Amino acid sequence: MQDRLEKIVSLCKRRGFIFPSSEIYGGLAAVYDYGPLGVELKRNVQQRWWEAMVYEHENIVGLDAAILMHPMVWKASGHVDAFNDPLIDDRQSKRRYRADQLIEDYIEKLRAKGETERAEALHRRLIEALNAEDMPKALYQIIMDERIPSPDSGAFDWTEVRQFNLMFVTHVGPVASEETKVYLRPETAQGIFVNFHNVKDSSRLQIPFGIAQIGKAFRNEIVARQFIFRMREFEQMEMQYFVKPGTQMEAFEAWKEKRLQWHIENGIRPDHLRFHVHEKLAHYADAAVDIQYLFPMGWQEVEGIHSRTDYDLRRHQEFSGKKMEYFDPQTQERYIPYVVETSAGLDRTILMLLCEAYDEEEVEGETRVVLRLHPRLAPIKVAVLPLVRKDGMPERAQALARDLRPFLNTFYDEKGAIGRRYRRMDEVGTPFCVTIDSQTLEDGTVTVRDRDTMQQERVHETQVLAYIKDRLRQ
Ligand code: GAP
Repeated sequence: MQDRLEKIVSLCKRRGFIFPSSEIYGGLAAVYDYGPLGVELKRNVQQRWWEAMVYEHENIVGLDAAILMHPMVWKASGHVDAFNDPLIDDRQSKRRYRADQLIEDYIEKLRAKGETERAEALHRRLIEALNAEDMPKALYQIIMDERIPSPDSGAFDWTEVRQFNLMFVTHVGPVASEETKVYLRPETAQGIFVNFHNVKDSSRLQIPFGIAQIGKAFRNEIVARQFIFRMREFEQMEMQYFVKPGTQMEAFEAWKEKRLQWHIENGIRPDHLRFHVHEKLAHYADAAVDIQYLFPMGWQEVEGIHSRTDYDLRRHQEFSGKKMEYFDPQTQERYIPYVVETSAGLDRTILMLLCEAYDEEEVEGETRVVLRLHPRLAPIKVAVLPLVRKDGMPERAQALARDLRPFLNTFYDEKGAIGRRYRRMDEVGTPFCVTIDSQTLEDGTVTVRDRDTMQQERVHETQVLAYIKDRLRQ
């Protein structure tokens, strides 16, 4: 299965979806750049999310808050004190591990060996440790009691477990001191909370209402691995839904279903998705569930739906001294709203879509690689191809491509055998290939080839745009 991920990584590099950052200098761990096709895919995913969240809900509006925020924001949110990973070092290899991850991987190994009972007992102990007052110590105790060896050196020579804050620090102005310290935001959510009144008052919204945002977030992840699954710079698509206290569970349940449905509508098979209920709730949550996808490396989170209570607004009220209340004009009540948040990783959603879409099949004794992306998400919507480079076919094809360009991301290609050109488009998920052939010169019809079925239909060249638009709507 890992093999599949490697093939996807290689395709992403080869065809211009995703490159390692600063590659000519050896790259920067867990940071990636989106290439010409990757950026199209990313924009399409953003667009679909925005349409589903903002345009389809009259009570949800958008926001684009800054990455740098007042440092008090992160004090109030709890990130300065609690956004930590428990780390442990192997003294022999000098490798650093997340202590909870180390235990989890060990539990997986026990399960694989069939030691189910021991694995379950250890799992329960891990959950207890994660909820313990002195979490690092409790994790350390498990590692000692179980004598968990280092995965790389095999030695049992650990340091104690220490907390490591995941936020990146930088400074505003020319002097780097404690006073000028600011953080790169580790989540977009806080930009929404601090703008609660600005958005509510300017948009004249009444509860329940939501604020949606897509933007960069930064985390100094220790265990950065699996391509764009866990990155140090990544993008989130978050929506905070403000509700009356006491109604949060209803909203939580509704958003769970809506968000799951969104992934299915993007072409993810329902049996590749599941809910995973959190056993350890974050300090701010009264309910939390992950939407997990069956990645080549197993079930992993792509999106979190959290009922965050009034924690964030209350803390910002405390720390800023500004009231964070809502006044209900109908009931004349005043309260701090509760929040249900949907928080999806954009890059992780893209990795999921690529994993889901990647397919290989035998066609006439050759392997055809095809990305079965949802047509609306495909980076290139249509390729226009003259069958041969003569008889006026290239000119006719270029004219058609020019007509399509203002409406659809259109690719023109006249080089090489037609079969190879089709394969190149299959590999990047282009849903339609339009071919201009000798019949076009006689009756103005072209062939439209479907990526998935490879079936061709004849359509008049003046009808190509309407035909594709219609197919994209399906
Ligand atoms: N505001 C809540 C919040 O940030 P989270 O579960 O920490 O919640 C939400 O993050 C989503 O962001 C995750 O489900 C995941 O898709 C994405 N995400 C988090 N850390 C990431 C990382 N290091 N690299 C890529 N995506 C990440």
